[in-house]
Amino acid sequence: MKNKATPNNKEMVLRDEDFIVSKTDLKGKITYCNEIFIEFAKYDEADLLNKNHNVIRHPDMPGSIFKLLWDTIQSGSELNAYVKNMAADGSFYWVLANVTPVLGRDLKPMGYYSVRRKPKKAALDVIVPLYKELRALENRSGKKEGIELSTKMLNNFLNEKGISYEKFILSI
Ligand SMILES: Cc1cc2nc3c(=O)[nH]c(=O)nc-3n(C[C@H](O)[C@H](O)[C@H](O)COP(=O)(O)O)c2cc1C
Repeated sequence: MKNKATPNNKEMVLRDEDFIVSKTDLKGKITYCNEIFIEFAKYDEADLLNKNHNVIRHPDMPGSIFKLLWDTIQSGSELNAYVKNMAADGSFYWVLANVTPVLGRDLKPMGYYSVRRKPKKAALDVIVPLYKELRALENRSGKKEGIELSTKMLNNFLNEKGISYEKFILSI
């Protein structure tokens, strides 16, 4: 199930002490979410469990960021990323997400775990225009080609700064 809500400009802001937590299986299907996750997503718990995490995807999010996320966590590493999510009523909320693989004895991922916190306003001032450009590029092309082009644009942006996405995220 994808998020079928119509996006609107209503923003929800996390409180300083909020942690939005979820766990997923290897495919990104939600196996656990905490109460604050449910509060912000505005779905009943039963409508979230066993659904893919894209149930709260916001259409403004660039596919290249999710590609980077999956490439990183599937290789066994963690990723910090800014993510704009959409609630069941179409409102949005920004998070700084830390996503980590839960490794088995063979050190291969068995599932994934994510903790999201309130992002810094100054960081969003950098992220919002960057994601807007990436998303606009994707919207102009087919899905697969769009993500390739947007990944290239993201890599060029990072190469100019000489840092990884991870270092960039933690630097803003
Ligand atoms: C642990 C974990 C947490 C995730 N959290 C989110 C999230 O908060 N919002 C989101 O849109 N996608 C999240 N994703 C990524 C989704 O699984 C999915 O890749 C993304 O929403 C893009 O979906 P689509 O390519 O089907 O459109 C998460 C994935 C994992 C493994």
